[in-house]
Amino acid sequence: MYAFSKSVMELRSSEIRDLMSTVAKSGMISFAGGMPNNDLFPVREIDAIYNDLDPGVKKSAFQYGPTPGYPPLLESLKEFLRKKGLPVDTNKLLITTGSLQAINILTKEFVDPGDIILLENPSFIGAISVFKSYMARMESIPLLSDGIDLGILRKKLSHLPEKPKILYLIPNFHNPAGVTYSLEKRKELLSIVANKNIIVIEDDAYNDLYFDEDAKIMSIPMKNNEPKNVTICYTGSFSKILGPGFRLGWLLVNEEIYAKCELIKQAMDACSPNFTQVLANEFLSRGLIEPYLSGLRTEYKERMEMTQNALQKNMPDFVKWNKPNGGFYYWLEMPQNFNSSEILLDSINNGAVFVSGKTFDPANIKNNNLRIAFSNMNKEDIDKGIKIIAESIIKHSRSFH
Ligand SMILES: Cc1ncc(COP(=O)(O)O)c(C=O)c1O
Repeated sequence: MYAFSKSVMELRSSEIRDLMSTVAKSGMISFAGGMPNNDLFPVREIDAIYNDLDPGVKKSAFQYGPTPGYPPLLESLKEFLRKKGLPVDTNKLLITTGSLQAINILTKEFVDPGDIILLENPSFIGAISVFKSYMARMESIPLLSDGIDLGILRKKLSHLPEKPKILYLIPNFHNPAGVTYSLEKRKELLSIVANKNIIVIEDDAYNDLYFDEDAKIMSIPMKNNEPKNVTICYTGSFSKILGPGFRLGWLLVNEEIYAKCELIKQAMDACSPNFTQVLANEFLSRGLIEPYLSGLRTEYKERMEMTQNALQKNMPDFVKWNKPNGGFYYWLEMPQNFNSSEILLDSINNGAVFVSGKTFDPANIKNNNLRIAFSNMNKEDIDKGIKIIAESIIKHSRSFH
């Protein structure tokens, strides 16, 4: 046995990855992957952009680029973010290799082994793995339908033996919970963390994928109104819109934090793919992004509504969920004694797959929820797949009698 580092010994493969060989069999209806829809990627637009590139720009796309990002993309992205009200002129923007790298950089910047990170329960599995890889101590706070339980946040802040370094949040169209923080909760949250010297990571990977105007207003980033006595590090991504294959995300932080981020990124990968940065820049600067996003919202909303109908039709009364107002996910809650891993095995046998709840619990225990991603579904499979999952849940419920 090799003498692996302590931090690597903490890492575990997720249940769904272990099941992947079974899941890959043909005909399986998969609600598992938290990924955008293959048929919605802007393939034609990117084809046209590439063919139309100036030969000099084309060559530079194959080359290394500056660590902070391809300069024209930094400018066009700034414009895109400025329109959302983000403070791009008083903060610095860093292009990252996916927003997961942004979370990785920030954790490296602030966390030593044993340091406390506060996060939602449930939370994004990628971030949980990053925090584990730095040997952070994770303290989770239950996520309610309008944001984290602020009573518990207050308690943790006053009772924990050491001050938490980071508070990691996904306020919009949450992965996996599908919820969006209310405006009141955002305000109160910021007042609770004011002057506490905690870094708030605002992970906004799904920001553009709102389903109606109310959701658009609700999902305004907290970073837009960052109070003087709070530090918010804002992260975003092209993954859920242009595609994860671009491997492009970003980080918007104050100058002091940025200086270290740039050094950390230099050591990690020197620069993000210049190739996709060139393409993303053209997509933004040619004004293609807005009409494209508007089409995506319509498509994802339609899948969300179809899933809602299928859930209402097929799920037993004891299964609860919130209707998401953006993003990719439904988060189903079952009674406490239910075990979604057992339901998953039965459901896979019958042809439908999802992700079990404990995957998203930082302690990997709470398992009476399950995540259904409707984003990469063929519309015609939604009802059939939900029916299979509902039948597995009902069968499981009978095992208690
Ligand atoms: C909440 C959240 N943040 C960040 C990411 C990371 O995405 P990427 O690294 O592809 O930008 C994801 C991807 O699933 C996510 O769901």
